[in-house]
Amino acid sequence: MLEESIQELESGSLARIASATSLEDLETVRVQVLGRKGALDQFFKQMGKLAPDERARAGKVLNGAKQTLEAALESAKRQFAEAALRIRLDGEWLDPSIPAPGPRRGHLHPITHIQRELEEVFRSLGFAVLDGPEVETEYRNFDALNIPADHPARDAQDTFWLANGDLLRTHTSPVQVRGMERLGPPLRMIAPGRVFRNESVDASHEHTFYQIEGMMIDRGVSVAHLLYFMRIMLAEVFRREVNVRLRPGFFPFVEPGFELDIQCLLCNGAGCPVCKQSGWVEQLGCGMVHPNVLRMSGIDPEEWSGFAFGLGLTRLVMMRYAIDDIRHLQGGDLRFLEQF
Ligand code: PHE
Repeated sequence: MLEESIQELESGSLARIASATSLEDLETVRVQVLGRKGALDQFFKQMGKLAPDERARAGKVLNGAKQTLEAALESAKRQFAEAALRIRLDGEWLDPSIPAPGPRRGHLHPITHIQRELEEVFRSLGFAVLDGPEVETEYRNFDALNIPADHPARDAQDTFWLANGDLLRTHTSPVQVRGMERLGPPLRMIAPGRVFRNESVDASHEHTFYQIEGMMIDRGVSVAHLLYFMRIMLAEVFRREVNVRLRPGFFPFVEPGFELDIQCLLCNGAGCPVCKQSGWVEQLGCGMVHPNVLRMSGIDPEEWSGFAFGLGLTRLVMMRYAIDDIRHLQGGDLRFLEQF
């Protein structure tokens, strides 16, 4: 009686194991049949009530069933594990003989690009490209440029001052001072680079931006020279002839000083929203180097004269590509930069 029941349980359980479709199915069978308080356990408990010779026979059958079922569960489990491993390996399969994709190719930032273009033009015109420190002395950023002690640019609101009295240069003009001091006249030089102003950032202002400044000092240099070189530079940037005009403008380091405008490239002077209907767009500051500035750098203004100019590279890039927000340029979003 008992032996038959055991054999029934055994064959029923083997069938369940054979038809299991997951590890969870197997676990259910294991708990119900082999687990503590499982079906086999119930049989073991009944053994105590049997006569000794019957108990010996039933015990054999019971132990045999237990071993058979344990072995069947084990091998079914192994099959599931092997199948799972095969699927995983198929998914992770890789071919080490395929060549690597290689580093992602980048390109120059549009500001760097325009800077290099301008360096190339000026170099071809005999100008040296000079570099200078971004941390400057108050003397070279202001005093040597004839900027008076009470000038608003010296205010902490406009300039980043360092604890030791130095500052982050607010323009690349101090490099012109270094050029005059170091090289002396005759001198043709440009100074491209990063400059800093204590501004709140908005669509047209950044605390950190790029400029290019330059100067030419020689005997008999006049405004005509200034205009000649400015026209060449702007034609290069905008890749076409541009009409320019000078308006009086004040910068302490030049006399006379000018604002140079270009005729609006969008409407050719007819008037449009970009030029605010005036036909002209302000482009750069320039003028004839102030005698005080020459003198402070050890150059005799009776013998030498020169022009100087300065403009924002960042702004040039914005104009060339019609970018309406300065923050795009240094925001670090590659989707923006990849357009260039
Ligand atoms: N240094 C001036 C600026 O940063 C630009 C400038 C340079 C103007 C030379 C006139 C002459 O705004």
